[in-house]
Amino acid sequence: MLLLLLRAASARAYSTVFFLSPSASYLTRWPVAWRTGEGVIDWQMGRWRQAPRPLGLLLAAILVGIVGRCDGGISSAYVRKAEKTIDMPLDSDVFRVPPGYNAPQQVHITQGDLDGTAMIISWVTEDEPGSSEVLYGTDENNLDLSAEGIYTRYKFYNYTSGYIHHCTISNLKHDTKYYYAIGIGDAIRKFWFISPPEVGPDVPYTFGLIGDLGQSYDSNITLAHYESNPNAQAVLFLGDLSYADKYPYHDNVRWDTWGRFVERNAAYQPWIWTAGNHEIDYAPELSIIHQSFQGETGIDDTLYQSLQGETIQFKPYTHRYWTPFESSGSTEPYWYSIKMASAHIIVVASYSAYGRYSPQFKWLEAELPKVNRSLTPWLIVLMHAPWYNSYNYHYMEGESMRVMYESWFLKYKVDVVFAGHVHAYERSYRVSNIAYNIVNGKCDPVPDESAPVYITVGDGGNLEGLATNMTQPQPSYSAFRESSFGHAIFEIKNRTHAYYTWHRNDDGNAVAADSMWFYNRYWQTAETTSAV
Ligand SMILES: [Fe+2]
Repeated sequence: MLLLLLRAASARAYSTVFFLSPSASYLTRWPVAWRTGEGVIDWQMGRWRQAPRPLGLLLAAILVGIVGRCDGGISSAYVRKAEKTIDMPLDSDVFRVPPGYNAPQQVHITQGDLDGTAMIISWVTEDEPGSSEVLYGTDENNLDLSAEGIYTRYKFYNYTSGYIHHCTISNLKHDTKYYYAIGIGDAIRKFWFISPPEVGPDVPYTFGLIGDLGQSYDSNITLAHYESNPNAQAVLFLGDLSYADKYPYHDNVRWDTWGRFVERNAAYQPWIWTAGNHEIDYAPELSIIHQSFQGETGIDDTLYQSLQGETIQFKPYTHRYWTPFESSGSTEPYWYSIKMASAHIIVVASYSAYGRYSPQFKWLEAELPKVNRSLTPWLIVLMHAPWYNSYNYHYMEGESMRVMYESWFLKYKVDVVFAGHVHAYERSYRVSNIAYNIVNGKCDPVPDESAPVYITVGDGGNLEGLATNMTQPQPSYSAFRESSFGHAIFEIKNRTHAYYTWHRNDDGNAVAADSMWFYNRYWQTAETTSAV
């Protein structure tokens, strides 16, 4: 209640300061301000605002001094150390190649079907193809099951990848610890994972949220911080993995180092992948011949195209990181859905076509009505470019997708949207912004209990560093924002309640720098986080 009073007083104080200010904008607006029986009304920012009476003026003036001029929620005053974010060198221990000839490396797993009875096991062998077989079972000493995978490889400019293996193991029992072994000879490596529980409305499950991770010293702290949470069961990764494209010629060696870096967690927990802009790897400038070459030499088109730079989008990403897109009826690996425990998770692609008639549009249009909230009450959407972002970085880059899909998210009552891309943290109130059409001018976000909470967790710690510059004042839709590296945890308790926390790297694991209880949009709407 005290917080609400402070907020209300703060908003009024803002009006008052505006009204008393001898500024040009005040002068131009003076003709539309007048006294009423309730006080002074003036016009600002497209809204009528009411200024308080003299006693209110005094109180408001005092409160302005206390809380400052701010329309939105909290802009954290936390001051983190100002050190440059740099990548770990190639000889770092986290990039170590496992011992043994042709030993499997860069091991990672992701859910392999719609409801968690399959897992895709992926790894790389550097020297020769070796074996694509996975031995697995529930008894560590008796891996009595096996599955045969495939391998692929690719070239990128002057780089040739190792042999990238993918093997889907199926018919898994739910919520069961499986051991698996890959490799041959003296380089066999063993890992384990716990399969997701059977899908059901009250099945608890704990997700980690990591985005824009990269491979800097800060990335390592983020991953270690996440690993220190003993309850997290799977990672929802929000895009931008290795940042190899920041290196000369998109040095794909940095894709390999990143794979070895995250193996310590990604080999044991399913990581659910979202494609970010650093996965596009579109580099036509890496052409090794001049355009006149074809005319001069008369080489055929196929050979000429092969020499024309890297124009196949997402090439390293799609070779290395598979998603189970086909099991949800998707036709591309960039947008798809899975069910885990009591959650239906939809991954959308910020960097694939999403306009009307595009394959992604048609898929999402058909997908949302299929979500069965009686079976999976929690509807979670992952994307890379956020729709609601009040930092001066990537500002409004998610806007066109918001225009396309936001009304669907309200109609189908999405609980939460997680995004990355902006290298900072931000959580919104429940707001929507769908009233606008091209003539009515209604373009402000408004409180909306059918709307998701939008959370940006692009603060994994990559070499590009933190986004520190925020729009001012904090917009009314923004509940909490802070420029620190970190990760988040979304802990589903049952069909109605989930507990959400954000953890900055500078704190111990037990500390939550931001938190909120989520009340399911379908089963219980009594909450509110909306205070705009
Ligand atoms: Fe990004």
